[in-house]
This record gives sequence, structure tokens and C-alpha cells, in this order.
Amino acid sequence: MPKLVVVNRAGEEKTVEASAGLSVMEVIRDNGFDELLALCGGCCSCATCHVYVDPAFAGAVEPMSEDENDLLDSSDHRNETSRLSCQIHLTDALDGLKVTIAQED
Ligand code: FES
Repeated sequence: MPKLVVVNRAGEEKTVEASAGLSVMEVIRDNGFDELLALCGGCCSCATCHVYVDPAFAGAVEPMSEDENDLLDSSDHRNETSRLSCQIHLTDALDGLKVTIAQED
């Protein structure tokens, strides 16, 4: 089971167990982080699941779709590590993936 390291908006870090196949958003939500609203439930239409991916994993996470890219453009807090966490699915290869919950827009 891959582990996911989550940093909340206060900078506190927590490591949680994940099941391969789940999205990063689902794992964050299921582990009680109420900062991640994920309002659309993972359909790539709300951008409230915005996270920053540790640059060490930039080449390992699945590529960004055009829709995700467009949605991220609507955020004032986008940077070069931004992703929508509902669009990244955990695999064993992503064990130890670290994400930071982005500031709310
Ligand atoms: S949960 Fe809405 S875009 Fe990810």
C-alpha cells in the first residue's frame, strides 16, 4: 500500500496509508483533512482539490490534461507544482508522494 504524505495549510505534516487506485483527493478527504473541499467529487470541474506536488515526484505523477490545466489557471495560487488532487491516482510507484494543500481561492 502506498503511503501519502500530506501537509496541511498550517504546515503540519501527516503520513497516511492509501490504497492503490484511489485518487490523492479521495485519500486526503478520507483521512479527515477538512481543508480540501473537493466540491465536484472528482469530476475535474471545481479546482477546490488544489495541491502542490513535491518536485521530486514531478516526473512520476500522471500527466495533466488540458481541462485540469485550464481549471488551475483560475486559481490565484497556482505555481509550477500545482495539480488537482482528484486527477492523480496512487500507484505503488508513488509510495511516499508528498503533497501540500494549496491556499483557498
Ligand atoms: S474535486 Fe473538483 S476538480 Fe478535483
